[in-house]
Amino acid sequence: MATAVRTNTDLAFQRCLTPDCGATYDVGEVRTGCSECGGLLDVAYDWDRLPVPDSLQVFEQKWARRNDPLCRSGVWRFHELLPFAPPEKVVTIGEGQTMLCPSDGVGKFVGVNSGGLFLEYEGLNPSGSFKDNGMTAAFTHAHTISAKRAACASTGNTSASLALYCGISKLMQAVIFIGSGKISYGKLSQALDYGALTIQIAGDFDDAMQRVREISEKLGIYLVNSVNPFRLEGQKTIMYRVLEGLSWQVPDWIVVPGGNLGNSSAFGKAFLELRELGLIDRVPRLAIVNAVGANTLHELVEVRGQRWNGGRVDHQAAGEYYQELDKGERRASTIASAIEINRPVNYQKCLRALDVCQGVVREVTDQQILDAKAQVGASGLGCEPASAASVAGARLLRREGVIAPSDRVVCVLTGHQLKDPTATVAYHTTDQQEFNRVLGSRGVKRAEFANRAVAVPNDLDEIIRAIQLNS
Ligand code: F0G
Repeated sequence: MATAVRTNTDLAFQRCLTPDCGATYDVGEVRTGCSECGGLLDVAYDWDRLPVPDSLQVFEQKWARRNDPLCRSGVWRFHELLPFAPPEKVVTIGEGQTMLCPSDGVGKFVGVNSGGLFLEYEGLNPSGSFKDNGMTAAFTHAHTISAKRAACASTGNTSASLALYCGISKLMQAVIFIGSGKISYGKLSQALDYGALTIQIAGDFDDAMQRVREISEKLGIYLVNSVNPFRLEGQKTIMYRVLEGLSWQVPDWIVVPGGNLGNSSAFGKAFLELRELGLIDRVPRLAIVNAVGANTLHELVEVRGQRWNGGRVDHQAAGEYYQELDKGERRASTIASAIEINRPVNYQKCLRALDVCQGVVREVTDQQILDAKAQVGASGLGCEPASAASVAGARLLRREGVIAPSDRVVCVLTGHQLKDPTATVAYHTTDQQEFNRVLGSRGVKRAEFANRAVAVPNDLDEIIRAIQLNS
């Protein structure tokens, strides 16, 4: 795609992640990687010449100015920490008005002390997932360079978010790529309803991702997947809001599901910058949780010992692993369809986040995910399966003794409960055949926390008896 005009002089620019390369590019260029070394790009800032507040408390004052869309947005409220676009170019639909909820119910399940477990509920975003945090940022960048079409490959939430921003703003057409049969109905219904051009390809997310990169390059369509560094700028704000929810105290742990690794990478960058700017004095530890059926990061980091290594990432190790996957015809497979990804595009950046935050990676089974999801639901919020991987992972780390009972733990709930009702209903069903069809085939054997519907004849006395028996 053609290079566009500068938007913010050189106060913001793009920089190759690989320290030995460090090539820089104008903020107005559309790129998904470094043309010198192929590394991923960061959005970087000349902080010394930018008006950075000297304390995070300053951001609370914006609550009083909620009539201004930039103050209402939970992303742009923190504009000073992602100043790559001029305020008049920002495209916002009021994303990021999410909340950090303490949950003793989930805390008990995880095994931490009362008051120690928090859920960062990103399902409250306009399209129902955390993606809107990043989409407003990528969309704003796309708008600054006058893009007319934007594309993504998606397991469902990115596409729902892109479709929503296009539908509301009418600034661009959404072109989305999904794997056939790989996306939950809730998410597919959003993309269709909001009017996105929906390309369903015969393949999975990894195939769709590869294709959309080729096609957006070829046709000059703006790519909004998280390989786009501007996306991650918006997702940093999830961590700012977590800190705000804790009165600016840094928790001990942030636990997040890992798919394409955009979130975890963004969180690492957020803490790295806050520390550099002197706005926090320590960073939390980061736990990234894969599903067993889509566990590339776990395999590479915890089994094969891959590390950031001061930026000297051994890309060959990942390449060899992908070859093994291809040879064995191994495809990602998990009930948590949002994270059913074997080739995470942000792998390199995520290794940096693990380094910055003394991170760990764990994998959890579909059984563990669904049990954790039922506990999140019973605590009142609910989430989609992928989101519950964070809670399942926190529980595992607590059992291993890596997380202490006295630790303050924040689990990020990435998507709304209504995104994927099929898995939820199958978990709670009394119909064994339906259970087996949806979940049994994935190795899920029991629904320990099921809340089963009580079937009764259409008879007043029988209904009253059922209520008395069950209350
Ligand atoms: N949770 C949910 C609900 C998601 O939709 C995704 C990713 C993740 C977790 C993983 O986040 O990629 O930042 O590691 N969904 C993408 C999509 C891939 O297309 O909607 P990640």
